[in-house]
Amino acid sequence: MRPSSATEKPPVDAADFKAAMRVLAASVTVITSRRGDQLNGMTATAVCSVSTAPPQILAVVNRETTSHGLIADSGAFAVNILAAHQQELAGRFARRLDRPFEDVAHGLGETGCPLLAEAVAVIECRLRERHHAGTHTIFVGEVVGVSCRGAEPLLYFDGGYRRLAAADGAPPSWR
Ligand SMILES: Cc1cc2nc3c(=O)[nH]c(=O)nc-3n(C[C@H](O)[C@H](O)[C@H](O)COP(=O)(O)O)c2cc1C
Repeated sequence: MRPSSATEKPPVDAADFKAAMRVLAASVTVITSRRGDQLNGMTATAVCSVSTAPPQILAVVNRETTSHGLIADSGAFAVNILAAHQQELAGRFARRLDRPFEDVAHGLGETGCPLLAEAVAVIECRLRERHHAGTHTIFVGEVVGVSCRGAEPLLYFDGGYRRLAAADGAPPSWR
């Protein structure tokens, strides 16, 4: 495989690449972090399970975000998987905010990261590895806390928020 550089012509058209990624349906999460008194959250879909022993997940974070510095400096982050009724939070945390958690119901986890109330699941991690990849960093975290509750998740597909439906019409398992 040939190495690519920023000056080389990209191997595929950027619009084609974006069009393909738009149809990768994903759960919507808010990645939360904390450095001292500074709490932050960012909406993210680039989150994935990595390993069960030890339990690890990864999150792919743009280096230009506020969250990137907080996660890198504090060595911790939490992934809050949003419920279908939490779309307003997805919009809120996709912007830079002065007081991101004002009027947002949350607690603090053992790493100090904010944990969102009413999330479908919350996965709290200590940072174990980081890998640079283009404009982003892949943060690999070891799971130190997890909570899960039955609720419908919020999805993102083709540039919009969506709801889940069973392919065979079966009733959803969260009811
Ligand atoms: C649906 C959706 C998914 C997103 N997924 C990611 C992601 O996986 N990684 C990322 O770095 N930014 C992602 N973003 C963009 C961040 O939410 C956005 O840059 C945010 O303002 C960063 O906040 P911060 O600078 O306060 O950390 C996503 C935005 C939306 C709306």
